[in-house]
Amino acid sequence: MRISVIGCGYLGAVHAASMAKLGHEVVGIDVDPKKIDELSVGHAPFFEPGLPDLLQASLDSGRLKFSTSMADAAGSAVHFICVGTPQRKGEYAADLRYVDAAFAGLAPHLSAGDVVVGKSTVPVGTASRLADEYMETAPEAILAWNPEFLREGHAVKDTLHPDRFVYGVPEGAAGERAAKALDEVYAASLSEGTPRLVMDYSTAELVKTAANSFLATKISFINAMAELCEAAGADVTLLADAIGMDDRIGRKFLNAGIGFGGGCLPKDIRAFMARAGELGADQALTFLREVDAINMRRRSRTVELTRVLCGGSLIGKRITVLGAAFKPNSDDVRDSPALSIAAQLQLQGADVTVTDPEAIDNARRRFPELHFERNVEAALSGAHAVLLLTEWPEFVNLDPKAAGTTVADRNVLDGRNALEKTRWQESGWNYKGMGR
Ligand code: UDX
Repeated sequence: MRISVIGCGYLGAVHAASMAKLGHEVVGIDVDPKKIDELSVGHAPFFEPGLPDLLQASLDSGRLKFSTSMADAAGSAVHFICVGTPQRKGEYAADLRYVDAAFAGLAPHLSAGDVVVGKSTVPVGTASRLADEYMETAPEAILAWNPEFLREGHAVKDTLHPDRFVYGVPEGAAGERAAKALDEVYAASLSEGTPRLVMDYSTAELVKTAANSFLATKISFINAMAELCEAAGADVTLLADAIGMDDRIGRKFLNAGIGFGGGCLPKDIRAFMARAGELGADQALTFLREVDAINMRRRSRTVELTRVLCGGSLIGKRITVLGAAFKPNSDDVRDSPALSIAAQLQLQGADVTVTDPEAIDNARRRFPELHFERNVEAALSGAHAVLLLTEWPEFVNLDPKAAGTTVADRNVLDGRNALEKTRWQESGWNYKGMGR
């Protein structure tokens, strides 16, 4: 099939390369010429394991092209909208300007019978508004909403082998045609037995926000338990292991620590609350306010624990922060708890050095006042406290004995409860975990 992918960020670049891998003829379109230049020569403009190889293979096959011109979408049978929906400045609601711009730019290039497929995370009600506003230009062009559930760091696998497909489609024959087109796009994955659920627009939009809200709630639940464990002298990691063995609960997403961040969970729960308010259903989501508050409290708690670890004052203390990305295997620092804690410590008088295998350039752009060091050993040198804030394997597997020879004081705060506590203690470290 001929496919266009509009928006080539974390979602769209992976989607475009994956669709070409599945055998389709794909054009990826983005307004950023720098991004398009890089993608065209096989450079992923961000760190995502497996993407450079997939990109190169798809470019080599001749089935993948990139362009800055929306006119190149003309002739595709299916157009995926993959642009971002960030949080509006100073508000909880989502900023839909990029979605609207994508639809407005695409509309004149649609032909009869084209299927436009929204993948961006949008407030419920957006798809039907977009259908009304932009889909009249071509006869029988149809809008479908097909939310994406990919995780950064696993984006290639999640795109090629998702857990499920969700199709939000209009009623009747148009909906059937849209579902048929999507079945054709995803034929390879569907033949592996991946379930597909067909529903109305609103339910499809809500599936995505509900899934992210549930995940955020699960993490905040265990972080609330961490607060309790700290107060009661219990261990939240053992508690999570024990409750996680009940398969109704499950152990995944029960890692207590410094809380969740990234370009999705924080802004999605806020946009969900804002939308619920507009719909007069704000009471239904007041619990998400608490989920957000518990999450933000983890950051201030980490700063306080660091102060204690440094003997009561942060002034002039050298602190090494291991990790800037919001999670391992990503260079994404959007709403990164690690980076926000590092900046807060610096603001309170500490001398902070941050190291990360992939995210230093992005982190420096956001917080130029922090000190960055690529070499881990150099970053550790002379530290009064070491904070593990993003659980990259190279940090988790650090040798505590060797690390102990370069620091000034052997104080370690394990912000992700990922280090082997006894190993660090046996090497003479004063170990502090989160909620244990
Ligand atoms: C998330 C959803 O998982 C994905 O389905 C959706 O499409 C986009 O949003 P992502 O933002 O890539 O994906 O990251 P995710 O793996 O969900 O992690 C989010 C945050 O939660 C990270 O900061 C991570 O460190 C944190 N987290 C995760 C915890 O603090 N504890 C856990 O147990 C799990």
